[in-house]
This record gives sequence, C-alpha cells and structure tokens, in this order.
Amino acid sequence: MQKLLFVCLGNICRSPLAEGIMLHYIKKNKLPLIVDSAAIAPYHIGENPDIRTIKNALKHNIKIEHLIARQFQIDDFEKFDKIYVMDFSHYEHLRKIAPNAQLFEQKVDYLMNVVYPNQNIEVPDPYYGTEQDFEKVFQMIHTACTKIIEIYSYEKNMPFK
Ligand code: 4NP
Repeated sequence: MQKLLFVCLGNICRSPLAEGIMLHYIKKNKLPLIVDSAAIAPYHIGENPDIRTIKNALKHNIKIEHLIARQFQIDDFEKFDKIYVMDFSHYEHLRKIAPNAQLFEQKVDYLMNVVYPNQNIEVPDPYYGTEQDFEKVFQMIHTACTKIIEIYSYEKNMPFK
C-alpha cells in the first residue's frame, strides 16, 4: 500500500490540512492509501491543528480537529513512499538530514509539483496571515491533494469521486 507523508514547519496549518483533505477523499473513493503529516520544528508537538486552519477547513466540509502534531523522524524516509513538502526551507532541511541522496531524490518533492511539475511553487506559511491567506492555502493544498487522488484512482482503475 502506498504511503504518503506531508511535511511543513509546525504540523498545525499546512501539512495536517493536506492529511485531512487526503483522508476525506481516500474515504470517499475507498482508496488503499496511507497518509500522515509531520513537522520540521518541535514547537507544536502533541497539539491539534491551528484553530484558524480547523475552521477554514470546516467551511469546506473537511474535519481535521482530531489530528495531532508530531515531528519528522529520520525513519520516515524509509517508512513513506513519497514525502511532500510545502516550501524550500522544508525541502532543504530534509535534504540535509536525509540518510542518503538517493532516498531524498526518490521520495521528497514539493506538493505543488503534483499540479505544476518542476516549478517548485511554495504553499505559503499562513501562520502570521489573514483569513484570506488561510483560504488561499486551502485552495492550493486542495488542488494538489485532489490531483493525487485523481492520479491514484486512475492507476487503480477506480472512478474518481
Ligand atoms: P505550518 O505553519 O508550518 O503550516 O504548520 C506554522 C505553524 C507554526 C509556526 C509557523 C508556521 N510557528 O512559528 O509556531
């Protein structure tokens, strides 16, 4: 079974949103996919997602309030098939701590490259932003995650809902 990990700085805004959107569509499409999310930094370990992310996601019928932040572990490089980061700083951090360059190159990519290949478009950090910034982040992550679901459904010869 394919295992996907989403990574951001705090694991309370962007990456748990990606995990929650994926869980929503995995359930809807009955797909055999495992997803998780993790933080680069330890600041919010054990916390639920940021209330602004929870509320914005709920507007779109995505429930993420049950998710709990954890920090990225070195063995995540082995455990997951793909590791999607939100921005350059996460990408570079994972490059530095990767056990080897091959694992890093094989597995780590920018989330938005799913939609816009090789462009390395960043999902901006909404933490110090406005309600509109949270909505923009939602739209970006939703676009990428539904694309992953669509591709995976096609590969499995299953209809995309
Ligand atoms: P995230 O957002 O990386 O999308 O979870 C942030 C959460 C917390 C902080 C920064 C970004 N912080 O500085 O505490």
